[in-house]
Amino acid sequence: MNTIETERLYLRQWRASDFAPFAEMNANPEVMEYFPKLLTTSMSNAIAKKCQSLINDNGWGFWAVNLKETDTFIGMVGLNNANADMPFSPAVEIAWRLDNDYWGQGYATEAARASLDFAFVELEIEEVVAFTAVINKRSQLVMERLGMTNTQKGFFHPMLDPNHRLAEHVLYKITRQQRQDTVLT
Ligand SMILES: CC(C)(COP(=O)(O)OP(=O)(O)OC[C@H]1O[C@@H](n2cnc3c(N)ncnc32)[C@H](O)[C@@H]1OP(=O)(O)O)[C@@H](O)C(=O)NCCC(=O)NCCS
Repeated sequence: MNTIETERLYLRQWRASDFAPFAEMNANPEVMEYFPKLLTTSMSNAIAKKCQSLINDNGWGFWAVNLKETDTFIGMVGLNNANADMPFSPAVEIAWRLDNDYWGQGYATEAARASLDFAFVELEIEEVVAFTAVINKRSQLVMERLGMTNTQKGFFHPMLDPNHRLAEHVLYKITRQQRQDTVLT
């Protein structure tokens, strides 16, 4: 697996030392405000392991994000084959989750731009989607900074009760051409 390098970050394979800070993030109510529940350490470790094995098998996935300057793990950003139950599947999704100590510095957008470029250049995918709860405005701002378009095809998450506060989702998309146009402008 090749590490992806950006100006300030590495997107890389997960290390054993990432598991504890990742579990801390996943138990942090601020980071998890728009997820149905906080994760236990074992649930968090299972996700990190799954990311590790998908990157191992495929060469891409939800990468561990590392700050170059301090060699610190700050969260995960990357690509994934969306769950087959999703109304827009099959699709490759892009997603992000950073430790809140590292919000407000452009790191999620920087890592996501590199992930999109990997999807379009290395994987030669035509389109990448992103989705989040309607009330998760911070995540939608990342989508908009990336030049993604709101498809207006909102949906109710199939795993949540329709009355759940997080059930209603937005769906954003970006094509390879739109990404190229964003880079050139
Ligand atoms: C969603 C999430 C990744 C967004 O993180 P973020 O730090 O707000 O997003 P960005 O990386 O795009 O940073 C943008 C901010 O950095 C600021 N910034 C500071 N220095 C910057 C720089 N050098 N370059 C770019 N932006 C910079 C921008 O002005 C902007 O600030 P603002 O929030 O005050 O407007 C983060 O809130 C998160 O991990 N949330 C929890 C998980 C989650 O909800 N994930 C989505 C579920 S689908």
